[in-house]
Amino acid sequence: MLAVLQLALLSVVALASPAPADLVNRDGIQSPFAGPPVAYYNPVDLGGTMFDNTGNGLGEPLNVIISGLSSPELIDGGLDGIVNYARAIGFSKECLDIHLGSPFSANLGDGHGAVNQTIELRQDYGSSEIGTCLESLIGGNHFRVYIQNGPLANSGALFLAVSKEEDVETGHDITPDGYNVGRDQLVAHAIGAKSFDDITYYTVAQNITGLMPAGSAGVNHGIAVDGIVTLLTVSVNARAE
Ligand SMILES: *[C@@H]1O[C@H](CO)[C@@H](O)[C@H](O)[C@H]1NC(C)=O
Ligand SMILES: *[C@@H]1O[C@H](CO)[C@@H](O)[C@H](O)[C@H]1NC(C)=O
Repeated sequence: MLAVLQLALLSVVALASPAPADLVNRDGIQSPFAGPPVAYYNPVDLGGTMFDNTGNGLGEPLNVIISGLSSPELIDGGLDGIVNYARAIGFSKECLDIHLGSPFSANLGDGHGAVNQTIELRQDYGSSEIGTCLESLIGGNHFRVYIQNGPLANSGALFLAVSKEEDVETGHDITPDGYNVGRDQLVAHAIGAKSFDDITYYTVAQNITGLMPAGSAGVNHGIAVDGIVTLLTVSVNARAE
């Protein structure tokens, strides 16, 4: 319990700590080592946005951030680290590794510019082998992952574009309110203690407002978002008591 409190406290401190601008030196180059580790940097401060780019002039909200203060098993664990955590909270790699849609890019304001998603994961309906095939057929929750690790804002945070889709027969589009609903479902699955492959993750959630605009302007499918971004801080080996 203490560890959880400390983590929660750490996230608050990180949010209140120097704005990215304070870490930019005279040459305008930000050193990732100039300050304490942070939960994330606001992409908008350095030319990015809180939406990905769906290629039609619109975007999906980056409505969940996994804090850069999370355990290195997840934040520095590369693709394997992300996939293992995703499995622990009910997602797996896309059905048969076949990607049905085109990749979307995002600019996290970290100096890398627009970068395609690192991976897309889908809700696995209880079976990490065939579950995602089911998801493609009956619809469900999925998310794309972007990593904020460029030279200007190297928080290591993972930005997720989470949405809930309709089933194949209805065109595999996002459900009404599918961004808010997708976020809340993912968060509900994630919080508390979750395990996969002998790793137990303890996840705490905190809502952030003011980072993303509410409404439907620029949002894919014209679906309004409530403007809430949920910050997840994930620790490995902290015990839920
Ligand atoms: C993303 O991937 C697509 C398809 O592979 C490619 O055409 C596009 O140039 C990539 N975009 C970026 C920003 O890397
Ligand atoms: C975040 O906001 C959503 C939507 O209002 C709400 O359902 C959820 O309980 C909130 N979570 C936290 C941790 O405050």
